[in-house]
Parts: sequence; structure tokens; C-alpha cells
Amino acid sequence: MSAPAVDAFSRLRADGYAVVPAVVTDVLLERLCAEADALVTAFERGQRSDDFWHFTRDGESAPVLYRVHNLHQQPSAPVAAVLFAAGPLHHLAETLLGRPARARVSAMIVKMPHVAAAVPWHRDRTDVAPGTAINLSLFLDDSDTGNGCLEFVPGSHLLADDADVDQARTAGPVLPVGAKAGDVAVHDVRIVHASRPNASARPRRSLVIEFVPADTESP
Ligand code: NI
Repeated sequence: MSAPAVDAFSRLRADGYAVVPAVVTDVLLERLCAEADALVTAFERGQRSDDFWHFTRDGESAPVLYRVHNLHQQPSAPVAAVLFAAGPLHHLAETLLGRPARARVSAMIVKMPHVAAAVPWHRDRTDVAPGTAINLSLFLDDSDTGNGCLEFVPGSHLLADDADVDQARTAGPVLPVGAKAGDVAVHDVRIVHASRPNASARPRRSLVIEFVPADTESP
């Protein structure tokens, strides 16, 4: 294991999240960004499907895209499909889970400049034990408190399945977690987390893939 991966392995277990720098770089990162741009452009030109999740701001008419669900199944996202099937995120997930892993679901999260809303506090799911299912967020843009970075309550992946999310958030601490383009922020699906709105002029896009042990039964 590389030093950053060793560090992430222990932080993920203790805190429920970690950031691994520069997992995807150069040409692959550029191609994923180009694909993301094309998906957003297609939406803005009117493409709609059940996978293009959007909302409309009060008093405005233009829809705001915030998620492309089932990213790896989009006909115009072949590079994301390859990333879902094999490669650097799989290697990282297997290191962090300590066993063979498979990708379960994928999405692109889009926080459009000026208009993106916050994602409320939640846990992704609690039907698995801590350390069993992890979400890898590959950032396509630099992410910080100004453009909608992730926020976590460290250690909250260890809370009971039915723990109150608002109570956990209030008890804190709440840590904003920035990332650079190409970094992967990994979190246990059980952790209490949220993300901020994007009040900046910069986009904030990430590809999220959930990994589970390879021998986990499909739903
Ligand atoms: Ni989440």
C-alpha cells in the first residue's frame, strides 16, 4: 500500500472518511471532464430522462441540473463506464475495503455556479456494517467551502443504525472537506454528511461510485 492509501485506510475506519490525493490525473481526468461538460450541455439544450435530476429555484423558470443518476449507463459517458468497470477507483476501493470489491451504483453530482443548493444532512444507508460499503467521490473540479464541498461528522459512521441525523450534526464537530480536481474523497455510507451550496462562479462536479465487497449479493 502507498503511504496515502495507508493513511486513508486508518482514517476511514476511525473517522468514516478520508481524502486520497491525485488518484486520477492527466488524460483520463481531462476526458472525464469533457464528458461531464457534454452531459451538462445536453441538459441545457433540453435533454431529459429519469436519470437527469433537476430542480427549479423559487421565482425562476430555468431548471438546475444537480445529479446524473446511473452515470455509467449514459450512452454519452463511455469513459465513466470504463471507470465504473475497472481501473484506479477499483484499486483504491479494494485497498480501502481490504478485499476484492465491485462497483454498485454511480452518479455525477453537479453543483452549478451561483445556483446549486445544499445537500441536506443525511446518511446514505445504514443497512450494512461500518467499513462494508464506501462511496468514492472523484472530484473533477477543485472543491472548497465556497463552491459546495462535502461536510462530515467524524466518527458518525459508528452510530446506531437509527441514530438521529440532526442530533449528530448538532453534537458535531462538523468538518468541511476540500479536494483538488483528481482527488478522491471516500466516505463510509453510514457517515452523517452534507454538502454546501455553490455561491461561487466556479462549477463543482464529482463522480460518485459506491463500492461493496465483490461477494456481496446484488439487490
Ligand atoms: Ni450522501
